Amino acid sequence: MNHTTTYDQIFAQDVLQGLSSPQKSLPSKYFYDEKGDKLFQAIMALPEYYLTRTEYAILESYKDKILAPFIKTNQPFNLVELGAGNGLKTKILIRFLCDQKVEFTYFPIDISGNVLRELEDDLTEICPQLIVNSITGTYRNSLKDKIWNNGDQTLMLFLGSNYGNFLEEDAKELLQKITESLQPGDGLLMGFDLKKDPELILAAYNDVKGVTRDFNLNLLERINRELGANFVLDKFKHWPVYNPVSGECKSYLVSLEQQDVHLEALNKTFHFNKAEPIFTEVSKKYGLHDIADLSREKGFDVVNNFMDEEAFFSDSLWVKV
Ligand code: AVI
Repeated sequence: MNHTTTYDQIFAQDVLQGLSSPQKSLPSKYFYDEKGDKLFQAIMALPEYYLTRTEYAILESYKDKILAPFIKTNQPFNLVELGAGNGLKTKILIRFLCDQKVEFTYFPIDISGNVLRELEDDLTEICPQLIVNSITGTYRNSLKDKIWNNGDQTLMLFLGSNYGNFLEEDAKELLQKITESLQPGDGLLMGFDLKKDPELILAAYNDVKGVTRDFNLNLLERINRELGANFVLDKFKHWPVYNPVSGECKSYLVSLEQQDVHLEALNKTFHFNKAEPIFTEVSKKYGLHDIADLSREKGFDVVNNFMDEEAFFSDSLWVKV
């Protein structure tokens, strides 16, 4: 071991906690390093991964109706986006607002400063007059600081079914924080992947080219790279499972044999039994009644569920009561 190596202690502690519990798990937020970002881009272009193109088409078809409640007042408003990423879908809304000469400020929030800088550059080309106030940070801190809190009406975007990646308790807590950050009359546009034929859902997380498998295994690769571990990737199998009752599509990495893995960052060895799973991600699917219950519980009215013809996906517009 090279003792001058410094490891990310937060990452190391998250891995320690996940791999020490009786049901081993790893947080899905660690998928998104440079390699993971590229793999996720590739996933979004896969034929089996219907989510991105469906949501894109919904925003394209309904952008005017989605934005109508925020432009009708002729007052400037705030467009706040949780997990903006490369803003591919949001640019549909931004382009529309710019063409209509609507006055608004865009606050993209993302954990990655690099992604936000690229997004800012793109937006300068698309809409030179647009004011962009990027926020590099976690959802939690950004919602606490609420730098967009300037008295103007706010439309908050939480697109891409990102909300589905939180386990129930964390999801409810996050939605509570979102609610507390908004004023009555503010809007929330949430992207929900809807319950559908289980075969279609499973295929989206088990594509034939194996891109999603590589995305899942990249978690172990990242731990090898950044925390000095010796996971052998061939000894783990990508295994997504969909439960049509809960709507949870859960992904696992299953140990194909009894094995030990050492992590230099923790100076610790973890034992894996043959067939032992590591839970790595939940991607929850919703019914329209789940969406209605959730919005009511948090004090919102559902203005509309904007859906594609097959009702695969909903961009659900809520207004805080
Ligand atoms: C980012 N998130 C909404 C994706 C999803 O569908 O849960 C992440 C993903 N995981 C595997 N494929 C895509």
